[in-house]
Amino acid sequence: MTDTWNSPDKFNREASQWDENPQRRAVALEVAKAIIAATNPRDTTHALEFGCGTGLVTMEIAPLVKTLSAVDTSSAMLSVLQEKIKTSGLSSIETICTDLSSPSDTFAAEKTFELIYGSMTLHHIDDTAGFLIRISRLLSPGGMLALADLEQEDGMFHDDPLEKVHHGFDHGVLAAMLKAAGLETILFETIYTFNKTNKSGATAAYPVFLVTARKPIVSLTV
Ligand SMILES: C[S@@+](CC[C@H](N)C(=O)[O-])C[C@H]1O[C@@H](n2cnc3c(N)ncnc32)[C@H](O)[C@@H]1O
Repeated sequence: MTDTWNSPDKFNREASQWDENPQRRAVALEVAKAIIAATNPRDTTHALEFGCGTGLVTMEIAPLVKTLSAVDTSSAMLSVLQEKIKTSGLSSIETICTDLSSPSDTFAAEKTFELIYGSMTLHHIDDTAGFLIRISRLLSPGGMLALADLEQEDGMFHDDPLEKVHHGFDHGVLAAMLKAAGLETILFETIYTFNKTNKSGATAAYPVFLVTARKPIVSLTV
């Protein structure tokens, strides 16, 4: 097997046990709290989460917004979320299995969202700059993008040697990409730090940032 970016197979295999990891649940809860505080979602907001997984963040945000499009490339992760939707009775969430980073994606072609967010997913997407341009086009004027991910790390975080990922993100580099995608008011905050025994066997602290950026009301086409 060769090295791959985002293997849905891996997430399909992990889906049924995903929520059993208390660290994942804790990160997701802190991310949801930070997104809510920074973006103030309302009952008129159409929101989209890319890489929603089993919906750990989605289930916190959905009760606050009008609609939530929960997008992932792994059908098994989405199946876990679909069970949660059934149990909760929340009818405002739709699940979509597609890769928004792919030029062949057609899901969002004619839609816009006041809020687009992702949690711990950006590092799985190969072409960060191109992806940010694609999803920024889906923001309505004045809409907000909120991205939670790992601060730049030394490459020891992910255990799977075959999985290609970015090793976290440098604020300056990511800010420049967000600006190039036509966004403004770019703000970073460190929202949570957790410990993980990493690939080298050492326990290290991993800070998670949230960056928010706004699409101007009147914007130049990027
Ligand atoms: C680390 S998990 C995070 C899941 C969830 N956001 C959470 O906080 O628990 C990354 C998720 O992103 C999905 N993913 C990776 N690349 C993707 C892409 N290009 N488009 C949509 N989803 C993607 C994976 O299938 C996986 O469910």
